[in-house]
Amino acid sequence: MYRTHNCGELNIGNVGIEVKLSGWVQKSRDLGGMTFVDLRDRYGITQLVFNMESEAELCGQARKLGREYVIQVEGVVAERSNKNKKIATGEIEILAKTLKVLNASETPPFTIEKDSDGGDELRMKYRYLDLRREEVRKNLELRHRMSIEIRNYMSGEGFMEVETPVLIKSTPEGARDFVVPSRMNPGQFYALPQSPQTFKQLMMVAGFDKYFQIVKCFRDEDLRADRQPEFTQIDCEMSFVERDDVLDAFEGLSNHLFKAIKGIEIEGRYPKMPYDEALRRYGNDKPDIRFGMEISELKEEVSGKGFVVFDSVEYVGAICAEGCAEYSRKQLDRLTDFVKKPQIGAKGLVYVKCNADGTFKSSVDKFYSQEDLKLWADKMDAKPGDLLLILAGDTGPTQKALSELRLEMGRALGYMDTDEFKPLWIVDFPLLEWNEDTQRFHAMHHPFTSPYEEDIELFTTDPGKVRAIAYDLVINGVEIGGGSIRIHNKDLQKKMFDNLGFTEEEAENQFGFLMNAFRYGAPPHGGIAFGFDRWVAIFAGLDSIRDVIAFPKNNSGRDVMIDSPSKIVQEQLDELFLDVKDIDK
Ligand code: AMO
Repeated sequence: MYRTHNCGELNIGNVGIEVKLSGWVQKSRDLGGMTFVDLRDRYGITQLVFNMESEAELCGQARKLGREYVIQVEGVVAERSNKNKKIATGEIEILAKTLKVLNASETPPFTIEKDSDGGDELRMKYRYLDLRREEVRKNLELRHRMSIEIRNYMSGEGFMEVETPVLIKSTPEGARDFVVPSRMNPGQFYALPQSPQTFKQLMMVAGFDKYFQIVKCFRDEDLRADRQPEFTQIDCEMSFVERDDVLDAFEGLSNHLFKAIKGIEIEGRYPKMPYDEALRRYGNDKPDIRFGMEISELKEEVSGKGFVVFDSVEYVGAICAEGCAEYSRKQLDRLTDFVKKPQIGAKGLVYVKCNADGTFKSSVDKFYSQEDLKLWADKMDAKPGDLLLILAGDTGPTQKALSELRLEMGRALGYMDTDEFKPLWIVDFPLLEWNEDTQRFHAMHHPFTSPYEEDIELFTTDPGKVRAIAYDLVINGVEIGGGSIRIHNKDLQKKMFDNLGFTEEEAENQFGFLMNAFRYGAPPHGGIAFGFDRWVAIFAGLDSIRDVIAFPKNNSGRDVMIDSPSKIVQEQLDELFLDVKDIDK
């Protein structure tokens, strides 16, 4: 037997008993007469004491232990004189009687402690050591608890978990596919699922009524803090539902997770905000509503006073930063630099300081009177002491830039409390999105998303205006999930494919199996998928989903630990009938 207890469970109630523990040497301290060793396992840390006086030989052995040695110790639990209230085992220690080294360890490339001295790249290369750190392990424990809660809740609500295949055909989620060559079908490729979208719809045709799956999805897209090439969805689908049935069902799941995991009761129903309104008020479709600082449109108020920048643009919008009128030149310059960054894309920043004495000071005083500036301040409900920050340009990009500026100010002013959660539904997305490159419409969500019935006639007059019965769940500015009511009618599906510029052959070739299935009695259905990694990250108070994934990829899509992707040998290529182009050329 390697152990009678783990390293996190002994406490003052166990004083006097004989125990056997196994674990890793976190660190050891040699204090002359005594050697203290912190023994660690998944459950915690227990202090071991080796006494030079009574156990000289043993103490000598203990002094030789290096970090991360795996050892086994027998001893007696004793009350500590110097108690550590911060850890569960902090009131006791083990007076060691035997010591056995189960495995030595080389000196680890970084210390396994809260503030590790390993940089990101090093920690990823030795991820199995990084995972020994309590902070990282806790994130995976949270992930585990959430997945258990989700499974139990969903099963309790009558949802059945069904596994769908991983070697499939391209799915229409809008990113690039990862593909896998088929040896048995030379020249042909499987695609890895960007989501199980078509399969879950087929499960509805099959009459399964309520499906869910915690499932890996694969997308070859540019990576960011909240995007990984392989990530996990909580994928769900239901039959005989309208939009609000789906929203109700998953508000239930969300509320359950908040309660079970965070101990938080979310009060009332989640607000539903149409997509257009989200853009108008917050500049993006995933607004962080933990704070106000909403965008106001000022084009009318600022026009016709000879300031050509404002007169010549399509859109002028502003936010009001409370209590920031005292911002220095340097702070304002920094904000100007921020909005001019290529990824934000504004040309410049105009400010208006609402002084404490009721006067105004702006960067455009040459063109606007005090009355003009007061008019803007009044429209924005600004008070003395506030600062107006104004951007101008084309509507879409300027709203987006204002959204970034709003978030930047929200961060600077401490409005983003990671312990506060404000979920909302964004609804009524446009069904179609115009793509300048291809000069045609693309499905904003995917081609099976149903339009509102009353908008169908717009297909012929103004397709960009057709609204989808689609919805996203947004929490604290993060898109946690998205879904829609699906088209289950063959004729409407054909109309959709026509608008997306698919020929009948193309539609048949890509989605023939689904269209076929729809001939045999497809029930009305709809669903949603949540980004599980994002949900865990937000509950953990983390910005990056990498921290909640055991073995994540870096920003170039590489796993630096296993060194993947990598080349394959010629025999493998031959077997697959593949030639690789000379990359260097
Ligand atoms: P969608 O494409 O919106 O919908 O994806 C659902 C949710 O998955 C998460 N997500 C990601 N998380 C991490 N890394 C990524 N690369 C990544 N891409 C997406 C997001 C997102 O909201 N089949 C539809 C769902 C449906 O209609 O039912 C779908 O996949 O949190």
